[in-house]
Amino acid sequence: MAQKTGTDDAPLKLTDPPPGKQRTLVATERMGKYFPVQKGLFGERQVLRAVDSVSLRVRRGETLGLVGESGCGKSTLGRCILRLVEPTYGRVVYDGRDILPLSSSEMRPLRRKMQIIFQDPYSSLNPRMTVRQIVGEAIQIHKLAASKKDEEEMVADLLQKVGLRREHMGRYPHEFSGGQRQRIGIARALAVKPEFIVCDEPISALDVSIQAQIVNLLLDLQDELGVAFLFISHDLKVVEHVSHRVCVMYLGRIVEQGGVEELYGAPLHPYTRALLSAVPVADPEKKRLRILLEGDVPSPIDPPGGCSFHPRCNRALRGTCEKEEPPLAEVRQGSGHKVACWNPHTE
Ligand SMILES: Nc1ncnc2c1ncn2[C@@H]1O[C@H](COP(=O)(O)OP(=O)(O)OP(=O)(O)O)[C@@H](O)[C@H]1O
Ligand SMILES: [Mg+2]
Repeated sequence: MAQKTGTDDAPLKLTDPPPGKQRTLVATERMGKYFPVQKGLFGERQVLRAVDSVSLRVRRGETLGLVGESGCGKSTLGRCILRLVEPTYGRVVYDGRDILPLSSSEMRPLRRKMQIIFQDPYSSLNPRMTVRQIVGEAIQIHKLAASKKDEEEMVADLLQKVGLRREHMGRYPHEFSGGQRQRIGIARALAVKPEFIVCDEPISALDVSIQAQIVNLLLDLQDELGVAFLFISHDLKVVEHVSHRVCVMYLGRIVEQGGVEELYGAPLHPYTRALLSAVPVADPEKKRLRILLEGDVPSPIDPPGGCSFHPRCNRALRGTCEKEEPPLAEVRQGSGHKVACWNPHTE
């Protein structure tokens, strides 16, 4: 089970990872990604702001959950951190190093440390390669094995780690179930001994009965290997279960972030409240009044002015919220719980 580490600058608790592991591993600083888009064949050129001015950090061995409605920029943010998509502006810092200026050869050793697990385990695995080849390929690219024999042992070990067997090596992806294919994807990501993995909706394509197994596997691997996760999901319950801290995104921006207990226990942003109110809870005492979000998410090509959530917000202050964009600011100094709202709920 993930240990809850509290907030950014809070004193260490006994259950926290050792101090050396508390260091920031990955950070973005006012980072954004704009995509040029064109209306029709000869239409006007426009800019889609998929991610805008996002600053976040993930510490060693920790899980940062990332939630928000479809299209709010979660995957783009994850991909920008790995430079699978080039950010338009801002900084990405990995282990103290600004990585955006690095050339592809300078990036290579870092590529090994940062991996991604995709939503659809089938389309991300080459159907013509055996499990042995899929998992072995990463080991070869980064020259991590001394010999073929050594590589084979490494693949066998990895399969065992993710709950598969040595006999599975010679098989092809289509011979496996969805959950097993995700295990292969995880084994491939782990093959290069990463420090940081972006898990982009890693369980949403799986049967509900299999989802818990994959989540528990990821948690066990984190305990064993100390790997940090950026865990992207629509499923707020799963994010609560796996995360130490959580960021809530809306239209390319972070609107609330904080330790998982604070954020779920006392959500401050009306958008976070609305998302959480839709999560089913077993305990009737904890039942929240369902808040319906009206209207669709506006287009990131032409987002509303001021606070981009104001047209859907039940607490919008006329004269303020549609005019000025609220900064992401800490509610209590040192709490690490931040909200971007002119009229947040109080704790
Ligand atoms: N290559 C691209 N070119 C143009 N627009 C893009 C591109 N990739 C993403 N977008 C747009 O950027 C916005 C954010 O997309 P993104 O996939 O990051 O959202 P998401 O939060 O991951 O959504 P989902 O929950 O559906 O996976 C969307 O409006 C999307 O259409
Ligand atoms: Mg996505």
